[in-house]
Amino acid sequence: MAVLLHQAYCSRPLFSSSSSPSSFVKLRFLHSNSLLFTPAAPPALCLPLNTRRPLKPVKAAISTVDLPETQDAKTERNQPLLEVKDLTAVIAESKQEILKGVNLVVYEGEVHVIMGKNGSGKSTFSKVLVGHPDYEVTGGSVFFKGENLLGLDPEERSLSGLFMSFQSPVEIPGVSNIDFLNMAYNAQRRKLGLPELGPIEFFGYLQPKLELVNMKGDFLNRNVNEGFSGGEKKRNEILQLAVLGADLAILDEIDSGLDVDALKDVSNAANKLLTPKNSLLVITHYLRLLDFIKPTWVHIMEDGIIKKTGDISLAKALEKEGYRGITDS
Ligand SMILES: Nc1ncnc2c1ncn2[C@@H]1O[C@H](COP(=O)(O)OP(=O)(O)OP(=O)(O)O)[C@@H](O)[C@H]1O
Ligand SMILES: [Mg+2]
Repeated sequence: MAVLLHQAYCSRPLFSSSSSPSSFVKLRFLHSNSLLFTPAAPPALCLPLNTRRPLKPVKAAISTVDLPETQDAKTERNQPLLEVKDLTAVIAESKQEILKGVNLVVYEGEVHVIMGKNGSGKSTFSKVLVGHPDYEVTGGSVFFKGENLLGLDPEERSLSGLFMSFQSPVEIPGVSNIDFLNMAYNAQRRKLGLPELGPIEFFGYLQPKLELVNMKGDFLNRNVNEGFSGGEKKRNEILQLAVLGADLAILDEIDSGLDVDALKDVSNAANKLLTPKNSLLVITHYLRLLDFIKPTWVHIMEDGIIKKTGDISLAKALEKEGYRGITDS
């Protein structure tokens, strides 16, 4: 894994069947930034909160996605941010179908939680949204802020305001955390036609973000995620989100491996990034996260579809009765 990442940083081909899915966006991102010193540097992950492009008007044609009646009523005043309709996808190599018709609408300002048994397709769904090359979309549609997301390459998806924190954050040997963040942030600024921030200015920008995620400055000079504990990696993912911002942040098991204090810190930071205009899509197995990040909707994924949608009571029932009690009804 480390060798693969190092090779990627040295501009070797980024995607192979052996590449870890979790490394994908970060590799693309890193690859983008390895070209930072060339005039034609490609775009980075997503837009910072304070420089985010205004939302485009939503096309009438896509507002016809069917919503569960209750979901429609609850959020009728907001704009849809993400509209997924009948999405099917296979593993590119084996053609095995994993997503079998996912339907989901996320409105501005909402927090959606996806729960589901191991192997039900949650991470696959999120990776398909960011354009991971291990998967091929075979049907359905995805619109993000009114644009056909599936027609965009991963960098464009990132630039349009989509951020993903992977279930297993990638380590990037040889690249310090602060350099990574600075390069990433500057790549965004260049794309927006804004002047880049030098190290000192960037540190000024970064300082409150570090405080937000309650992370020690020592981590800035360490290589990205290298030797970080599981919880430190998750905290670092949220730091990236705080620095880069997002209209829709997908957090895949951001709570796994966190002690209770870290869980509070990470949740608080995620909540602070939430505005009436942007949304969170949170994948988790545990009700305890929902004590800190309050969901608008809870979905249960089963065998590649969203089988059930409800509010927090669905997660509570799940905790009590298990999946059998929930999805059989
Ligand atoms: N690149 C891949 N190659 C082979 N199988 C894959 C690949 N990606 C996903 N799968 C398979 O697809 C199924 C869904 O995987 P996915 O990671 O989406 O599950 P999940 O719901 O996130 O599970 P968990 O809760 O354990 O994280 C699993 O059976 C997994 O082994
Ligand atoms: Mg998963």
